[in-house]
Order: sequence, then C-alpha cells, then structure tokens
Amino acid sequence: MSDLSDFQPRASRFAVVGHPVAHSKSPQIHQAFASQCGLTLEYQALALEPDGFEQGLRNIRAGGFAGVNVTVPFKQAAWRLSDRLSERACTAQAVNTLSFEDEAIVGDNTDGVGLLRDLEQNLTVTLARSRVLVIGAGGAAQGILQPLLTAGPAELVIANRTGVRAQELAMAFAGAGDTSGVALEDLAQTAFEIVINATSTSLAGEVPVLPQGLFAPGALAYDLVYANTPTAFLRWAHDAGAGHTADGLGMLVEQAAESFWIWHGQRPHTRPVIAALRGAKL
Ligand code: ATR
Repeated sequence: MSDLSDFQPRASRFAVVGHPVAHSKSPQIHQAFASQCGLTLEYQALALEPDGFEQGLRNIRAGGFAGVNVTVPFKQAAWRLSDRLSERACTAQAVNTLSFEDEAIVGDNTDGVGLLRDLEQNLTVTLARSRVLVIGAGGAAQGILQPLLTAGPAELVIANRTGVRAQELAMAFAGAGDTSGVALEDLAQTAFEIVINATSTSLAGEVPVLPQGLFAPGALAYDLVYANTPTAFLRWAHDAGAGHTADGLGMLVEQAAESFWIWHGQRPHTRPVIAALRGAKL
C-alpha cells in the first residue's frame, strides 16, 4: 500500500511566484489564514526566471497546484496568459491571483481591493470626497487607480517625474472619475488628505523630489512598499507635516485575504495577522 502521508488533495496546493520571491510573506500569511479557518494547505514561494514565466506556470499547473499568487515582475505576464479575467484584473491589466480550473486559467487582481480595505477599514480613512494624490505612473500606480476612483474622491491627481506618463494614465482612467496628471515639478500648492507613494523609490531608499505643503491637516501619507522601519518617503512625509503615515503591510495582508476568499470561500481575520507580522519584524 502506498504511503498517503504526503498526499495533498489538488485543492490544497498553492504558491506565490516571483523573481525574487524568497522573502515573500505570502506563505506565512496564507498559513495563518488557513489555521484560523481550520484548513490544511501547502503554500510555497517559487522563484521563476524572468524569461521563464510561461513554462514555469505550465509546470506548476501540471504539478497539481490549485492556484498561485503572482508578484513582481510577472503580473502583466499573468494577465496576458489568463484564459479568463475578472473585471478588475482586466482594468488593471495585471493579475496577482491565478486559479487553475480544469479547462482554464482564471486571472484576478486583489491589490486594489486590498488597498481600499487597508485605507478604509484598518486606517479608517474616508476616500469619498477627499483629495487624493498618487505619486508615480508605473505598473503599481496603474493597478490602484480604478479602485481609488471607484471610492469617489473629490479629485485624484497623478504626479510623476516623467509628466507625460502621468497625463497618459489620467487620460486612460478619465471615464472612472475626476483625475488629472502632472509632472512632479508642476504639482500646484494643493493640499491633499491622502498622499500615496506608488513609485519604486522606497525600494532604493530614495524619495521623489516633492514640494512642501502637500499635506492637509491630519493627512495620511501611505507607501505601497512595506519595511521593518519607516520608508524614506514616510520619514520625509512625517517631517513635511503628514498627520499619519502607513506602509503597505496592511495592503499585503488584505490582498492575500481576498485571494484566500477566491480560493477557499472563507474570509479570515486580517488584523491579528498584520499585528503578528509587524511584531515579528519583517
Ligand atoms: P512599477 O511597476 O513598480 O510601478 P515602473 O513601471 O518601473 O515600476 O515605475 C516606476 C515608477 O517610479 C515610475 O513612476 C517612475 O517615474 P518615471 O516614470 O519618471 O520613471 C518612478 N520613479 C522611479 N525612480 C524615481 C525617482 N528617483 N524619483 C521619482 N520617481 C521615480
């Protein structure tokens, strides 16, 4: 008789794929959710070569995985490879959650809803009728614009080092709400209630060159990047008058909770998981 102790039913094997991915918190987060919900699952971090995403995904699917989370730099590739897309993945043109069905690869994007839940539920910020500034016009910015606009801000300004990219992005999302794009140096002396750093600068320990006077009284400065210690942007924001600062750890856990819901149909409690990760140092 074969040893069944290693047997994992198909619906219980998951992974996060990226490059690099070794430091991903997703395995810890999904295991914490599973233990809350009384589920047993396998969740690995799998590094794929930058030019090996398609083949890697084929191997993973053939290996009996039920789904994967997708992180940098493969979110656009996952969007292209999906047979079916959710509406939000379609709009973001990026996928962070793949489900392997028998006949199809289904792509979804939970980053936007993860950000909204972190802002509105965990940080108790009201997006509706607020003035929101998004700094950056790359893939990270593109992925959060639709959900932010859906929340009904008074205005959403996109500011980018390369102004034309901000203008193009604002034009692409004009139908979803009141949005405009400017170069960083043309950022008028408007004060915002919510300022989100969606540039890649924090990964390099840098800060975009920003004017003073960006923060309305009590404003929130939010960095999509998370780290053990406040990012360079959050340190700058604190000195520049932001009322509150937060990094992207809450968004990371909230997007994972939405993926967990897609795969398992259960909504785990996120706050204890955020607190545990923060306490354990990242
Ligand atoms: P991602 O997918 O992570 O968003 P990206 O598409 O390469 O990555 O975009 C990086 C973003 O960070 C861009 O908005 C970039 O500005 P440019 O469009 O002008 O390149 C921004 N960025 C990177 N380094 C920056 C810096 N030192 N100062 C200001 N913005 C910076």
